[in-house]
Amino acid sequence: METNLKGKTAFITGAAHGQGRATALALAKEGVNIAAFDIAKQLDYPKYEFGSNTDLETIKAECEKLGVKCITHKGDVRSDEAISRAVNETHAAFGRIDILFNNAGICAYGLAHELSEAEWDNMIGINLKGPWLVARRIIPIMIAQKSGVILNNSSVLGLRGANRLSHYVASKWGVTGLTKSLAIELAQFNIRVNSIHPTGVNTPMQDGLAAIEGSTALEIAERSAGNLLPVPWVEPEDVANAVVFLASDNARYLTGSEFVVDAGLLTR
Ligand SMILES: NC(=O)c1ccc[n+]([C@@H]2O[C@H](COP(=O)([O-])OP(=O)(O)OC[C@H]3O[C@@H](n4cnc5c(N)ncnc54)[C@H](O)[C@@H]3O)[C@@H](O)[C@H]2O)c1
Repeated sequence: METNLKGKTAFITGAAHGQGRATALALAKEGVNIAAFDIAKQLDYPKYEFGSNTDLETIKAECEKLGVKCITHKGDVRSDEAISRAVNETHAAFGRIDILFNNAGICAYGLAHELSEAEWDNMIGINLKGPWLVARRIIPIMIAQKSGVILNNSSVLGLRGANRLSHYVASKWGVTGLTKSLAIELAQFNIRVNSIHPTGVNTPMQDGLAAIEGSTALEIAERSAGNLLPVPWVEPEDVANAVVFLASDNARYLTGSEFVVDAGLLTR
């Protein structure tokens, strides 16, 4: 399917790893210049591997090999200062920001009554406040352009509940609600806003969570077996393909939607 994305600019958070990385490459293949934002360092929570400086350098080299420009930004989505700097640099470099993929996120297990306040605040801070902080700095640019697409990576757990994941689920339902409200506020400026709801995705996050549980990601995915289609998980490229479609004019009248990439899980 042809897209109209050539020459556009995308700002992607959590771009060093997993779905953010796959999406940067998929958009670069369509001729989109990339601003790759990632914390690129380890946090204490959750205790699994985050993206690194090397990952950011690699994604830059890979995008440039595909014939587009790529600038990288190291920062935390909870830091307005880091976001403002990155957004200003991106705007100065490319003259516009057409696509925001709010993708950075963390996941961790814990019963609601056993979570610490710090665990709750980290989850909500990164997964929910982060997307709002980033959108807040990019929306004025999109309003001035009278065009833009914001895609927020929620989860199937932004549409249902789950055991030992109350803080994650709350953050992801928050992302779903943020999406709908932004869609209402921004439609008048020709800005579309949609949430994406993947089932389990084969990324470093899954490996990290599984290692904490003393298992492999594939074993856990096969045990939970919630997908309707006979696959344990989807690949990061499946989410990236959804982003390419939603960002393009092929989805020109899609806004406020919950776009599932769930192998049928939510049908059950
Ligand atoms: N993997 C899954 O099964 C799955 C399923 C549904 C939804 N999701 C969601 O998809 C998104 C991407 O997940 P993934 O599977 O690619 O995870 P991942 O851990 O493989 O990659 C996440 C990236 O975000 C970065 N990041 C984390 N915290 C950050 C912060 N505070 N500021 C900036 N960057 C930060 C990490 O360094 C990493 O590069 C997340 O929002 C996640 O909740 C994941």
